This record gives sequence, C-alpha cells and structure tokens, in this order.
Amino acid sequence: MSLHNLHQFPRLELIGLPTALEYLPRLSDYLGRDIFIKRDDATPLAMGGNKLRKLEFLAADALREGADVLVTAGAIQSNHVRQTAAVAAKLGLKCVALLENPLGDAAVANYHSNGNRLLLDLFDTEIVPVDVLDAPDRQLEEQATRLEAQGFRPYVVPVGGSNALGALGYVECAQEIASQSEGVLDIAAVVVASGSAGTHAGLAVGLEQLLPDTELVGVTVSRKVADQLPKVQQLQQALAEKLELKARAPITLWDDYFSPQYGVPNEEGMEAVKLLARLEGILLDPVYTGKAMAGLIDGLSQKRFRREGPIVFVHTGGAPALFAYHPSV
Ligand SMILES: Cc1ncc(COP(=O)(O)O)c(C=O)c1O
Repeated sequence: MSLHNLHQFPRLELIGLPTALEYLPRLSDYLGRDIFIKRDDATPLAMGGNKLRKLEFLAADALREGADVLVTAGAIQSNHVRQTAAVAAKLGLKCVALLENPLGDAAVANYHSNGNRLLLDLFDTEIVPVDVLDAPDRQLEEQATRLEAQGFRPYVVPVGGSNALGALGYVECAQEIASQSEGVLDIAAVVVASGSAGTHAGLAVGLEQLLPDTELVGVTVSRKVADQLPKVQQLQQALAEKLELKARAPITLWDDYFSPQYGVPNEEGMEAVKLLARLEGILLDPVYTGKAMAGLIDGLSQKRFRREGPIVFVHTGGAPALFAYHPSV
C-alpha cells in the first residue's frame, strides 16, 4: 500500500534522518522477548520528543499562514509546550503557552520551576497560568483573539499538537519503522503511550497500510478506554480522510497503567523508569513512557500480546520531567 499523499503536505525539516530503531539486549534477556526501541526521544531539538514530528507539519502551516506567534497549552511540565516553544524560538516566532497545574498542592517545588518549565523560560515563552484547561480549544481561541487585538498574527497549535495535520508526523514514523524492519524483523507489536492521541492515531493509520500484521497497543496515560477510544478513532478517521485512505484497523488501548491520574507517577511506572536506566542506560519519564513501558512489561507477563515475536517500544521522550518530579520519585 502507498502513503504517497503524505508528501503533498508542506513540511518543515526539523528532524532530518530517521530516528534509530535499536535492539535492547539486556532488557530482552530480562523479559524473555526481543524488544526494540524507536528513539523518538532523540529527535534533535531541545531535548527531543514526539512533538517535533507533529510540529514539522504544524509549524510549516503556521509559516504558510504568515503567523508570528505560536499559541499552545498544556500542563506546567508539558513536553509538548517545551518543544513548541523551541520550534518558535528557532523560527523567530513568539510563543504563548497556557499552563495548568494538574497536581494541585501535591506538586513539589521542582514541578513549578525545574524540568520543562525551566526550559520554557530559556525559550522566552510568555506564560499564561490557567486554573484548569477544561475547554482548551476555546481557551486557545481566546488567547488568539487577545493577541490579534495586540497586532500579532497567532497560530493555534492544539493541545499535544494532536489534530489530523499534526498526526501526519506519526504516519511518517510508521513509514520509518516499516522500512527499518523490512526483511529483517517481523514485528509482532508496537507499544506507545496514548495521551492527546495524535501519536497513536498516526501510527494506527500508517501501520495499517504498511505492517497490517503488527498489533499496535496504545497505553493510556490520562483516560480510561471509554474516553480515550473516541479520541483516537476520531483522529484516525480524520487523518485517513486527509490521506484519502480507508482506516479500518481496530484501536487497541490498555488503560490499566496510568493510575492514580494523569501526571502522577505510580510504582510500576517508576520501576520501569529504573529498569531501563539500569539495564540499558535509557531515560524514560514518570508521566508517559514509564507508564507505557510498565504496560509493555505487564502485557508480556499477562500474555496480552496477540502473537509471539519482537516488540517495538516507541520512546516518545519526556525525560526532562524527571527533574521536575524530584525528590518525590
Ligand atoms: C513524552 C510523551 N510521550 C507521549 C505523549 C503522548 O502523545 P500524544 O499526546 O500524541 O498521545 C506525550 C504528549 O505530551 C509526551 O510528552
């Protein structure tokens, strides 16, 4: 199958070469299954992460519209906001970020000032604190209106960069995984954290076309399946429409690994962070990839994967948040 329509969308080159697909020998030995890792944590800008793939398309769109400000939103420790702010800086644009504190009084001092939040100041981001991001699209539009009244030309980057345009970045990632594994690796499953859903939806559309026998598992980081499934499916359909494809692949979500809530580390997730650090020298994070890796590990022990064979973990980044959670993790 072909994804040739992907190349009709303007894209800004922020990443360059494909990210590495690496074998993890010591983790594989430990788990009794071949585990590979797709190093999207090692994308080149500002400590890396999955949002740069989305921003290749979103920032290109912003430049096409003549924007001079990127407006976005997320948690105080949002990796998405950090990467958006870095792209804005690189392009000479202003960045305005609406930030909420999902932890309330439980947030340690570092949560407010270290990790991703510290980096936002380096990028000279304008911070707009909000009590809660309960209607982010409307809240972002309000900021855009305010900025227009000041004479700016704002471009709204949705939470997580997750609209159909941004999710194109993860169709590209699926393409990379398919070409890197071609003839050498029969991937049984791909595991990824599923939050604002653009990463998951992009992989779903791309893998359905290119590796239809590979199971894709989204490990939720903020919602139970009943709430997350419609988000992923809606983006999957919008993306397929954009690419003039049919998306029929069922979406698999595991929602057993994010408790007690978004942004609050749990024991299994932190064990996974320590395991990858100690066995492979790889840094996961407390909010997304630690929990997703906990899902992979438990999924193996519970025999949740559909078939035998190598598993690819998509490392979506997030390690700057380790500093923000210290000393509570
Ligand atoms: C490190 C990390 N992993 C995974 C995700 C989830 O990706 P998505 O929002 O596309 O579902 C995010 C989103 O912020 C993230 O920062």
